Amino acid sequence: MILWNDRLVPRSEAKVDIEDRGYQFGDGVYEVIRVYGGRTFYLQEHLLRLEKCAREIGLPLPWDVSQLAERINQLVEANQLREGTVYLQVTRGAAPRNHAFPESVQPVLIAYTSEAPRPVAMLKDGIRTCTLEDIRWLRCDIKSLNLLGAVLAKQEALERGCKEAILVRNGSVTEGSSSNVFIVKNDTLYTHPANNLILHGITRAIILKCAEEAGIPVKEETFSVDSLYNADEVFITGTTVEVCPVTQVDDRKIGSGTPGPLTRRLQQAFDEQIARQCGCSAEMSGL
Ligand SMILES: Cc1ncc(COP(=O)(O)O)c(C=O)c1O
Repeated sequence: MILWNDRLVPRSEAKVDIEDRGYQFGDGVYEVIRVYGGRTFYLQEHLLRLEKCAREIGLPLPWDVSQLAERINQLVEANQLREGTVYLQVTRGAAPRNHAFPESVQPVLIAYTSEAPRPVAMLKDGIRTCTLEDIRWLRCDIKSLNLLGAVLAKQEALERGCKEAILVRNGSVTEGSSSNVFIVKNDTLYTHPANNLILHGITRAIILKCAEEAGIPVKEETFSVDSLYNADEVFITGTTVEVCPVTQVDDRKIGSGTPGPLTRRLQQAFDEQIARQCGCSAEMSGL
């Protein structure tokens, strides 16, 4: 089943109009929400971000957060999803093609579920990454359907044998193509400030809270590619990658080339959040 505006329907019943503005202009916003053990993780925070991003692009949502949460949970239940994700997008709607906003148009919402295990191998062993120029627009804080900059970066990374591209704007590391980036130097955690140049990741916020609770000093500051290369530890965060160690950036090994102790501590703290919210232990996920 999928959620199509106000209704749960079989996927084959949902119709996308060829003049839907999401399809033609990328004119819409989206969220990806993780499901562990059949329960949504930080659903409220994802829906609040969706609402904020929709407001930023002048797209009034006809549903409030509690209505959306109820429907997303119904969708998860209907599909009996245990481990996976919910993809949710809202476009400005369908109207004759014209860049300007249409006079009267109904937003179109689609949500569906996908099964996906936790990325156990990546979480255990870490990943290789490469740096690339950040060619995206200046409102990366809006989780918009326009993802071409991220798509091209991810593809380039994969072609270089890497799992993620770390983006660099004017010499500063911003974020990954689909993740936020953290470094550890002298036991302090650094990550780009939550401004217009990065997505304000939900996982990023969870990790900042975990770090604070664990008494780990945090600096939300920009840092250079050199600082990235010379960091003691590097990791990325995101709804699907969770807290994923980075063991190599370009041709440089990070630290000893294996996941570092602070990364491990924060992975553990993240697992505790999952256990608390979704009643699902790390062992159950094969970690
Ligand atoms: C560009 C970008 N940054 C960061 C993230 C991580 O955000 P979250 O932790 O909310 O999934 C994503 C997730 O897709 C992303 O696309």
